[in-house]
This record gives sequence, C-alpha cells and structure tokens, in this order.
Amino acid sequence: MSHRAVSAQNVAFTYPSGVEPLIDVSVDIAPRSRVALLGANGSGKTTLLRILAGSLKPARGSVHVDNEPLRYDRKGLRAHREAVQLVLQNPDDQLFSADVVHDVAFGPVNLGLGTAEIFERVNDAMALLSIEQLADRPTHELSYGERKRVAIAGAMAMRPCVLLLDEPSAGLDPAGVEEMFFALEKLERNGTTVVLSTHDTALALEWADSVGVVETGTVRQGDPRLLLAEQELVAAARLRSPWPLELAASLASSGRIADGATPRNIKEVCQEIERGSSPVIRYGQSKV
Ligand SMILES: Nc1ncnc2c1ncn2[C@@H]1O[C@H](COP(=O)(O)OP(=O)(O)O)[C@@H](O)[C@H]1O
Ligand SMILES: [Mg+2]
Repeated sequence: MSHRAVSAQNVAFTYPSGVEPLIDVSVDIAPRSRVALLGANGSGKTTLLRILAGSLKPARGSVHVDNEPLRYDRKGLRAHREAVQLVLQNPDDQLFSADVVHDVAFGPVNLGLGTAEIFERVNDAMALLSIEQLADRPTHELSYGERKRVAIAGAMAMRPCVLLLDEPSAGLDPAGVEEMFFALEKLERNGTTVVLSTHDTALALEWADSVGVVETGTVRQGDPRLLLAEQELVAAARLRSPWPLELAASLASSGRIADGATPRNIKEVCQEIERGSSPVIRYGQSKV
C-alpha cells in the first residue's frame, strides 16, 4: 500500500436545491495521519467527505492526491476509489449481499481480482475488524455496531491508503465505540490514513493528530489541543468544549494544575494533577 496525501483546496459545493454547505474549504490529509472533521449536524461534514471521495464534484476548487488534481473521468475516478474509500454513516446504505463474507468480497470481486487474492483480502479485512466469527451470518441479523464494522471491512478489502469514515461512532453504545476504536487502531498500525467525521470533540481531542472544524462553509484545521481550546470557534461551530479541556481550565483556575494545560484524556488530566501537587512544583503557590 502506498501512502498518499489528499487535500481539498478552496472547495465550494452547492446542491441542486440551492443549499451551499461548502463555500471555501481547504483541508490537508497527511499520509498515515488521523484527521477528525468536527461540526454540528448539517454543517457539511458528509458533503466534504463525499468531495474527498470523489463522489461529488466541487463547483469551485479542487481535490488533490499527492499534488495531482483529481480527474473526474472514469479512469481518474476508478483510480481514486482504489486509493480512497468512503464508508457511509448508515451501514444499511452500504451492505446488500446475503452474508458478511460476500459483502466484504464485493469490492475485490468487482475489481476483477483472482480468487486467491480475493480470499486473502477478505480474510485480512475481516481479521482487522475482528469479524471473522460473523463470516457466514446474514448481514441483516447483525447488530448495528457489527454492521458498521462489516461496512468498514468491505472498504478495507479494497486496500485503500485513505479511509474516510462518516460518523463511525454515531449510534453505537459505549462498548461499541470502544470496539470501533480498537479496530481503527489496528487499521492505523496497518498504515491506513483515517479521516472521520464526528461532533464528539472529546473523542477528536483524544484520537486525532489534526482536526478540521467545519463551520459556515469553511474549515479551520489545526492541532486538536490548540483549536479545541478556542472557545469562540467551538461555540460558533455549535460544538461543546471537550471535557478534558473544560476540566483542565477549572483545575487551573483553582491553582491545582498549570494554566494552559491541554490534557487529551483522563490519564493526562491525572498526570497534570500529580505534577501540580508535587512538592517541587505546585502551581499558583509556593510550597515548602
Ligand atoms: N442531497 C442533498 N440535497 C440537498 N441538500 C443536501 C443534500 N445533502 C445534504 N444537504 C444539505 O447540505 C447541508 C450539509 O449537509 P451534510 O453535509 O449532510 O452535513 P453533516 O454531515 O455535517 O450533517 C445541510 O444543510 C443539508 O440539509
Ligand atoms: Mg453527516
């Protein structure tokens, strides 16, 4: 698998109804990175993922893969879809075969690959998503979380270098979210770049290398710790500040941790508290 950089440059998109969710959007997806697109319902996350996947063509601006502009002819799109796979939010929009193994095999079969190669890809994809035990089950009998993982396995069987996941955690219970992220970690170790959309800022803060906040037709992209600490941006995007940063601000105001600390998760909050209460350094007061 090669590793590709994908970007959208000054992209605009208007639906035939006249709704223009994207006015001037630029995002950079570095090879092997974890990117979270954050935004309220209706902000344009799905539209942007479809643009990056090549299934919608921007009215202005362009999508680039390794600095080459995406060509929207058959050949260009076919090559793009082999490199960049989109998994839709609702797995039922993506699964239609009689059982799991046929669904996962659908893409490789369509590529016209040989039987041995199809077997290898399907087995690898099912192992990555930990769904081997579901191979012969009818997809309609599976839980929502299982169906989501089958849909991702189908995309992974195409061996993309970039996987675009629309709201992978939406509708999952806490254990389902954990299983999903366990699976994503395996994909990343496998070298796959993962871009996901969500409105869960705490999840983005903990998971992503880079976040893109989608708001009024544009995207602000940057380091999760810096961008998600910008309260005005978070509020304008109709999002909630991630709880670790809210908690850190509250602990800093009572001098229990350093001002400006940006812990990403519960472990890092605890580390900040330990540092703040050590006899050597105690923030806001001298300790003898
Ligand atoms: N097929 C469509 N036709 C017309 N308008 C659409 C279509 N899909 C989405 N929209 C509109 O575009 C805007 C952005 O939608 P979407 O990209 O789905 O946002 P998000 O994924 O962030 O919820 C919304 O106002 C939505 O109603
Ligand atoms: Mg959406």
